[in-house]
Amino acid sequence: MTYSKIIGIGHFVPERVITNEYLESIMDTTDTWITERTGIKERHYATYGKDTNASMGTEAAKIAIERAGLTPQDIDFIVYATITPDYYFPGSGFIMQRELGMKGIGVLDIRDQCSGFIYAISTADQFIKSGMYKNILVVGSELQSTFLNHTNEGRGVAVIFGDGAGAVVMQATDNEEHRVISTHLHADGTYAEDLYVKDPGSSRPKRFYDDLVDDNTTGDVFMNGSVVFKHAIVRFPEVIKEALNANGFKPEDIDLLVPHQANLRISEYVRQQMGLPEDKVFNNIQKYGNTTAASIPIALCEAWESGRVKEGDLVCLAAFGSGFTWGSALIRW
Ligand code: COA
Repeated sequence: MTYSKIIGIGHFVPERVITNEYLESIMDTTDTWITERTGIKERHYATYGKDTNASMGTEAAKIAIERAGLTPQDIDFIVYATITPDYYFPGSGFIMQRELGMKGIGVLDIRDQCSGFIYAISTADQFIKSGMYKNILVVGSELQSTFLNHTNEGRGVAVIFGDGAGAVVMQATDNEEHRVISTHLHADGTYAEDLYVKDPGSSRPKRFYDDLVDDNTTGDVFMNGSVVFKHAIVRFPEVIKEALNANGFKPEDIDLLVPHQANLRISEYVRQQMGLPEDKVFNNIQKYGNTTAASIPIALCEAWESGRVKEGDLVCLAAFGSGFTWGSALIRW
């Protein structure tokens, strides 16, 4: 039987640090409001002319490939998760492929918002288990700062999100111990418009640019924060338990839970619901904000680098986000 395992991991965040104090100086917000409601103290923003979605994905991928002991030429396929590509199309995975000199191999763009990396891991796992590919590069990258409305009108959303990228290399293995054990994916389109960006969409009779004269906010992120919050605190524990139950594990068997970094209050609520001690849940939203598809690989990478993920550990990744989408991945490291 062929399984997949993670053999290399890397992350990259742009160097520009945006503190809550800086946001206080450009909009009507406070460090106290942001910290109490989200746990975020700072986030990183890309620098125009230097960082792009694809360049951040490329940097994270280089580290993951090197740590895997491979070269870009060893990679058979790319799965690239983002909702903030450099261009409307083609996706940033193609640009990263070009930058890394991997011409010819297939690229699959995934856009499942904050659950994008879980969907990407699951997709790569299926390709490997089927025998189609041996080494797959999986990337989550987001450049969200240029989508945010940094005025009082957009403050409820702008303070939450940040930029960055993370990547893993997944490889085929016949080792039954150290592998991706299972992945679980869900969605409910009922709530599609509770967290969404309308434009540039095709749901209008003419070019959306023509309408911008009347309304220039249709390209902003709209978030019904309380609805998102209520669903997130139900779906996170549900999908983590689904992963555990499917494999005969109990919450206490988890060595480390790496949740999508949506909001520290959500992570804390999930931790309590699962009955996990603080040292079994990894959070770094304080430093990076919500980096959507990049948040799990950035967090997993920092957890691994700091020794919080060790050989033999049972690691659970879980996400919830726009769509609504949610999912989990259970890994024996
Ligand atoms: N600074 C200061 N005040 C702000 C603010 C900001 N950045 N953004 C909004 N406010 C104000 C609102 O205007 C509102 O003022 P009012 O009472 O005078 O109308 C007040 O703060 C409370 O707003 P509300 O939306 O009720 O706050 P909340 O306690 O629900 O928290 C969120 C808002 C967004 C932090 C919260 O709903 C949340 O965490 N939702 C989940 C978001 C999430 O995780 N998204 C990612 C999913 S992947």
